[in-house]
Amino acid sequence: EHSREITQTLSEFLLSTEQLLEVKKRMSIEIQNGLSKSTHDSATHGDFLALDLGGTNFRVLLVKIRSGKRRTVEMHNKIYAIPLEVMQGTGEELFDHIVQCISDFLDYMGMKNTRLPLGFTFSFPCRQTSLDAGILVTWTKGFKATDCEGENVVGLLRDAIKRREEFELDVVAIVNDTVGTMMTCAYEEPTCEIGLIAGTGSNACYMEEMRNIEMIDGDEGRMCVNMEWGAFGDNGCLDDMRTEYDRAVDDFSLNQGKQRYEKMCSGMYLGEIVRKILIDMTKRGFLFRGQISETLKTRGIFETKFLSQIESDRLALLQVRSILQHLGLDSSCDDSIIVKRVCGAVSHRAAQLCGAGMAAVVDKIRENRGLDHLDITVGVDGTLYKLHPHFSGVMHQTVNELAPKCNVNFLLSEDGSGKGAALITAVGCRIRQELS
Ligand code: BG6
Ligand code: GLC
Repeated sequence: EHSREITQTLSEFLLSTEQLLEVKKRMSIEIQNGLSKSTHDSATHGDFLALDLGGTNFRVLLVKIRSGKRRTVEMHNKIYAIPLEVMQGTGEELFDHIVQCISDFLDYMGMKNTRLPLGFTFSFPCRQTSLDAGILVTWTKGFKATDCEGENVVGLLRDAIKRREEFELDVVAIVNDTVGTMMTCAYEEPTCEIGLIAGTGSNACYMEEMRNIEMIDGDEGRMCVNMEWGAFGDNGCLDDMRTEYDRAVDDFSLNQGKQRYEKMCSGMYLGEIVRKILIDMTKRGFLFRGQISETLKTRGIFETKFLSQIESDRLALLQVRSILQHLGLDSSCDDSIIVKRVCGAVSHRAAQLCGAGMAAVVDKIRENRGLDHLDITVGVDGTLYKLHPHFSGVMHQTVNELAPKCNVNFLLSEDGSGKGAALITAVGCRIRQELS
């Protein structure tokens, strides 16, 4: 009885190979549209500071690059909290807080008196006009500080450093986390020409041929393009695959109607989709004896780490129940089975959608180069990719199935995107010296 209806509800999250190929095709079309539009990013040795803002953690890093017989990279970093009221307060408060954290870090490292070059990993969509200028197009994920959209965030950072009158820094580069991740991995593995984030948000970057980038003059060589693929579907092209739960999550988000693909694929939203389904199933009497608890009404209770635990195969159902208990949800054994199925349906679709997007990217690169077969490496980071027991496997498998002419190797970024940002900063400093 119930079981049939539950299966029916979750069947909306099942995507056929035809549908996934359709997602891949639509992604290819949007890549083409993106390249022909005028609305997007372009994208030694010494001590470098790096900031890493926009994922689960805000970090300040010191990266020491030493050249010798072998180049070595040594890193020190500290994680700082960004309270919700700062994320959603004024832009000045946000950047003052960032500078306050840098100040603490410089004290901690004993480096207040040096004017260090800084690379800023800023994981939001920017219109990048030079290496050290990025205009925030729109906040995504949980941020909504005022007076930042439309502004050069490097300028906002420099202003905040001046306001504090305590130390100087030379902000050299602003970098998206996908690009930082690609660079971090490319340092070890030169075939890495794609960066992928499957974390709080979802996004990718890849090396595109200059001749294909209409808004930039010059036909020689390649350039890294930050796709901002989280916004895939914002023109409605994925609406036929969105469920009522996807629409409900979108309706209650800070950026309604935006980042539609990201809202189906990334860690910040999967738990919310699960919660919407659970509420619906409870209302229909399939779960929790039909009682919707206050906890279930609470936004954001299912963080990626809980979904990951619930879906772990090593976990007995009793342990699933204790996780739900910990979240404040009193469940029977049957409840816990259903919750686990719901989590599975949602994360499986997310991994497949992400894989379909990646299949479009690797095939695009293969076609650019006129190859029948392409070997390529994707540098990857993000809590969903790292913590979830099935996401990475399903994603890899989907890429293999949908892009059979490519041999795609996924390389986990061990050092985050801050290292990549520091490497880019080092190159930026060198180029500046060569030009002066
Ligand atoms: C980190 C990067 O390693 O991965 C961040 O340095 C990035 O900049 C992050 O945003 C993505 O992961 P998550 O899951 O924390 O959003
Ligand atoms: C969001 C941001 C994007 C970032 C991604 C992953 O989609 O808009 O810039 O790369 O999250 O952190």
